[in-house]
Amino acid sequence: MSGFPAVRMRRLRENSTLRNMLAEVTIEPRQLILPIFVCPGEGVSDPIPSMPGVSHWSVDRLPEVVEPARGAGINAFLFFGLPTYKDADGTSAFDPEQPVQRALSFLREKYPGIFLIADTCMCEYASHGHCGRLSPDGSVDNDKTLVLLSKVAVSQAEAGADMVAPSDMMDGRVAAIRAALDEKGMSAVGIMSYAAKLASAFYGPFRDAAGSAPSFGDRRGYQLPPTNPREIIRDALMDADEGADILIVKPAGPCLDIAARLRERTSLPLAGYAVSGEYMMIRSAISSGALDRERALIEYHTAIRRSGCDLVITYFAVELARILGA
Ligand code: PBG
Repeated sequence: MSGFPAVRMRRLRENSTLRNMLAEVTIEPRQLILPIFVCPGEGVSDPIPSMPGVSHWSVDRLPEVVEPARGAGINAFLFFGLPTYKDADGTSAFDPEQPVQRALSFLREKYPGIFLIADTCMCEYASHGHCGRLSPDGSVDNDKTLVLLSKVAVSQAEAGADMVAPSDMMDGRVAAIRAALDEKGMSAVGIMSYAAKLASAFYGPFRDAAGSAPSFGDRRGYQLPPTNPREIIRDALMDADEGADILIVKPAGPCLDIAARLRERTSLPLAGYAVSGEYMMIRSAISSGALDRERALIEYHTAIRRSGCDLVITYFAVELARILGA
């Protein structure tokens, strides 16, 4: 035995009650947001091949995913959609008859107290798979895209979204969407902007799931370079200045430093998005027996909270909430 204080602390922490009392960072189901992919049709629940454990759901079957999630303590959902048609301007993104808008109205009506967030972008709806309107030279036209994105946000808010989540990464989109919502009298609808969204390899499985891979080129023209932390922070803080209510950091695991730096620079809530590639990394390691499922899920998501994120968007939300609640 030794009288060093650190040694005493180690001994004291062997007491699980004290260990629990002293936990500085915790993660709770109420802090989790579950992404959901909605598709056209009826009676559909189709497993997504690139993301085992995640499915495409038609609107009528959404209760099968929403009710168990709410049972586990999760009340917030982020919607992505597979439209019935695609065109150059991604006009199905603001069509009230498309899956996301139908899902929002259906759930708004059916579940009081549910918190609905809609991903606001063009890539799943545009035939070319880019996040905005293309110029003749094939680059994305930032300013013309703002007009389309504003229409998407307004249609999602009209359908019942509590918040819209622009993920396109155009400059000025938060201000444009804020103005469009306010003009329609929807100033109570919030904006959760993908403020620090990096050009990342970790979106791979999602692009298969959402059919949103660009048909040519990549997104490095508008998503942020992982090599440039100062630029990422500057860009993210611009969203805050434009009126964003919550800032998303994505992909969460590879961006813990970014979240920690943003935490020091803004008092807005932060949400870390553990994206499809992070999901698959962990899912595969669990499936092969390399990782202990419960410990790995708790540790990974706690690290995102520890980096300064208030909320965590994760495909593991229900599984994690059940572990936490057990
Ligand atoms: C749409 C969008 C993407 C993701 C969220 N919104 C794909 C992308 O930017 O290519 C990725 C989510 C994930 O990988 O889980 N712009």
